[in-house]
This record gives sequence, structure tokens and C-alpha cells, in this order.
Amino acid sequence: MLTGKNILLIITGSIASYKSLELIRLLTKAGATVEAVLTRGGEAFITPLSVEALIGKRVHTQLWDDRSYQMNHIELSRRADLIVIAPASANIVSKLANGIADDLASSVLLARNKPVLLAPSMNVEMWENLAFQRNLKQIQADGAAYVPPQVGILACGESGIGKMAEAATIFDAVCERFKNQARLAGKTAIVTAGGTIERIDSVRYLSNFSSGKQGIAIAQSLAESGAEVQLVVGNVSTHLPSHPNITIQRVESAVNMHAAVHQALPADVFVGCAAVCDFRVSNISDKKIKKESGLELSFEENPDIAKSVGTLEPAKRPKLVIGFAAETDQLLDHAASKLASKGCDLIVANDVSDGAVFGKDQNQVHFVERETSKKLPSLSKRAVADAITNWIQERL
Ligand code: C5P
Repeated sequence: MLTGKNILLIITGSIASYKSLELIRLLTKAGATVEAVLTRGGEAFITPLSVEALIGKRVHTQLWDDRSYQMNHIELSRRADLIVIAPASANIVSKLANGIADDLASSVLLARNKPVLLAPSMNVEMWENLAFQRNLKQIQADGAAYVPPQVGILACGESGIGKMAEAATIFDAVCERFKNQARLAGKTAIVTAGGTIERIDSVRYLSNFSSGKQGIAIAQSLAESGAEVQLVVGNVSTHLPSHPNITIQRVESAVNMHAAVHQALPADVFVGCAAVCDFRVSNISDKKIKKESGLELSFEENPDIAKSVGTLEPAKRPKLVIGFAAETDQLLDHAASKLASKGCDLIVANDVSDGAVFGKDQNQVHFVERETSKKLPSLSKRAVADAITNWIQERL
């Protein structure tokens, strides 16, 4: 099931550390090659020897190897397909969220170029602590996934949420992850994200409140499902993803974005999530306009990128074209007419009348197709992205 897969297991300090030995057994039995990093906290609970006996090689504990010159913190993630942190202490989650690299495990995580799956384990108060919850949210926004802890009697005697998931549950999540990674393998996608910038003069521009979060989450979700993604991104107020399957092209204006998208074609899927300015200034000044000279702008219409892709001749058109509709009224009617006029297969429609979408992490959308429409519950932007990935997978 996991033949040919390389897993880097980071074991941090927790009473649940012993369960990671069982996890190693399940992973190796399924054919995976396991390398392990044991933190100082981890070593307080289990010995390097127990881990080494199970994986058949040296366990890594030091940032700088004194026996040979090796950059362990870089090489370890390069050799892995997936990094699993089990148990993941509150400390390692918080270091991961904040980019702290003060030992081998946290340095591997900062230098990683591979996805992370973690199994938190801690006291209920630590789990519920607002600082920890902020960090947990942050690592998810950065693309990490976690196997939820269980509710029960904790080692400290208190009861509540915080007990690490069983080794078999973590093993299933690892298998699921690899299955997921293969489901769009060989498929290509172009995703637009963020707002476009339309220059007024050499120092000023027109744009919109788009943060780029939803489009970036879609690119990430598709990439994690195995698709090769070209992310064409305008102005964003969030950081850009780092994934081996994502190629990023930064653009400024709608005209640039239109050109970049058409250059990126052909693709199996196009997702137009960018908030493209409908108009651009036609009398851009190459010098800063002085306020004394007054301001008179004239506009011309920008190309409709989604429409230009959706209405391509069948040989050139992506198999699936997905557009977005942000509306303040008559959401479903407007979405249905956009579906038809832009030649899309799906419109993801959201109501932006109360400003509840721009820059936020939650989104509540409708999937509008030719014959049907479906309302999704309020979800994280990542969960909306995963629903779009599922929709794509069912149809490709
Ligand atoms: O027409 P409207 O801007 O409401 O349509 C939104 C959808 O069309 C989004 O998917 C957006 O990315 C796309 N769009 C585009 N080019 C434009 C305007 C919108 O691709 N010029």
C-alpha cells in the first residue's frame, strides 16, 4: 500500500510517544521506508534504540551531525514524500506556526519542501488555549493537515480533548493522503487568484479587496491531489503557497493576467477565482498626477478572462471551466446567467453583501451548474477548495 513511499517521522515529547513505535510498525509493514527524528522531549519518553530497532537505521537527534558533515535539516525533508509529526506537542505546532527553528525537528520543518501531517497530543487546557488554537489555524492555512486528537482521560488525570489518535487512525490518514495525492495525477490546472491592479499613474492604482486566499487554497488543494497547477496571481494579502506541483506566475493587470492564462494553456481545468477589475484606465499617466491639475480618468473594458477560456473552441478549451460570482443580490440568478455567458461548467457563487468574504478564512458558497444548484454550509476556504477539487475529480 505504501511501497516506494518515504516517510519522515518526527517524534516529539508526550506520553503518547510510545504509540509512534506502533505507527512505525504499521508504516513499514505497508512497505514504506521510515526515517525518524526524535526531539529532546521525545527522547525523554522513548529511546533512540527502540526507534532504530524498528526502522533499521540511525535515528536523527542533532541539528549538526558531529560524525559527518551533513545538513540533516535540509536533506531529511528532501528525501521524504511526507513528513508525519506524531505525537505533535503544543510546542512543535507553535514553532511550526511561527517559523521557529531551534532544534533539528523544527529546522527540518522550516526547511521542508514536503507536506506535513501531524497528530497533536497534549493536555485539554493546552489544546483549548487561544494561543495554541491560533497557531493550529495558522498551520492549517499554511497547508498542514492534522489527525484530530481524541476525547478521554488524559495522562495527567484530567479529562477532555487532547489524547493522540491511535496509531491505526494516523496510519489510515497517511494512506488516505497518498491516495489523495494520486487522484488528479497527470492532470493540469490553471488557477487565477487575487485582485488585479489597474494603474492610474506612476504611483497610484485601482484594485479591490480580494485577498487571494480562496484561489490559493484551490491551487493548494489541486496540487495536493496530484495535479500540476499554474497559479496566475495578482495582488494578494496572504502569502503564496510553496508546493512542488505549483508554478506561480505573478501578474499585475487584467491584461497581464489574460495573457498569462492563455500562455499557460492547454490545461484540463481552469479555475477563475481572481477578482479581475472590469475596467482599466485608458489615459494612464507615466508621471505622478498633481492634485492641482485635477483628475479626469477615462476607462476601457478589460478582457473577460474566464469567458475567453470558457468560449474557446472545443479542441483548445479546458475540459472543465470554473468561474466565481461574488454578488450582493439575486445571487443564484446572476450566477446562472454568468454560467451561460462565460461558457463555464460551474459557477461558485457567494454573497458578499455583508463583507463576510473578503480577507476572511470562511466562505459560504453555492455550486451552480446548468441543471442544478447546491448550497454548501459555511466552510473554511480550504474546505471550499477541497469541495471544488472533489467536483473536478468526479468529472474528469
Ligand atoms: O462578471 P464577473 O466579474 O462577476 O465574473 C466573475 C468571474 O469571472 C470570476 O470567475 C472572475 O475570475 C472572472 N472574470 C474574469 N475576467 C474579468 C472579469 C471576471 O476572468 N474581466
